[in-house]
Amino acid sequence: MTDLDPMALRRTLGQFPTGVCIVTARSGDELLGMTMSSFNSLSLDPALVLFSIDRRARGLPVWQEAKAYAIHVLAESQQAVSNRFARPGAKWEGIDYTVGHGGAPVLHGAAAVFECDAHARHEAGDHILFIAAIRRFTAKPERMPLVFSKGRYAKLHPGEEAPPLWPLDIHY
Ligand SMILES: Cc1cc2nc3c(=O)[nH]c(=O)nc-3n(C[C@H](O)[C@H](O)[C@H](O)COP(=O)(O)O)c2cc1C
Repeated sequence: MTDLDPMALRRTLGQFPTGVCIVTARSGDELLGMTMSSFNSLSLDPALVLFSIDRRARGLPVWQEAKAYAIHVLAESQQAVSNRFARPGAKWEGIDYTVGHGGAPVLHGAAAVFECDAHARHEAGDHILFIAAIRRFTAKPERMPLVFSKGRYAKLHPGEEAPPLWPLDIHY
């Protein structure tokens, strides 16, 4: 227990913008899919990424069995599918997909897709931290990514970005 104000904490964390992902997996006959903003890169060598799932998620026991995931970085045109995979219910009804690495369903229209093997899981407070090892990836650089900031979706303004500086001198 802490004495931090939970609403103020959520609002303050919302000052950190993220992209929006849909992470999918298959366990046995069951298709899993969940909208997540907790995705991030973790390691380049080996190539690892992370995401975290709320302990209250109905699908959590099945997520813990999954051996592979497809992580879709959503394009700005994909708010509707983001909302669909953020709600319980018929997430997969009428959704087109192909079968990717490890059987994980790969959705169409994303700005990037990382197909991964399960690598590690750690308990982390009210979430479980999932670490995934990237096995293959594709990008559609012409698609702008969907942004999530201050508790709502946002778009980048093409042309207003600073020129690319990556890799920065300060980066190793
Ligand atoms: C933009 C956005 C980001 C989200 N990020 C996460 C996340 O990182 N982890 C998580 O557990 N739930 C996240 N959620 C909520 C889940 O998508 C939602 O609770 C989940 O689909 C419910 O899954 P269930 O049917 O297994 O309970 C997010 C929702 C939205 C709209």
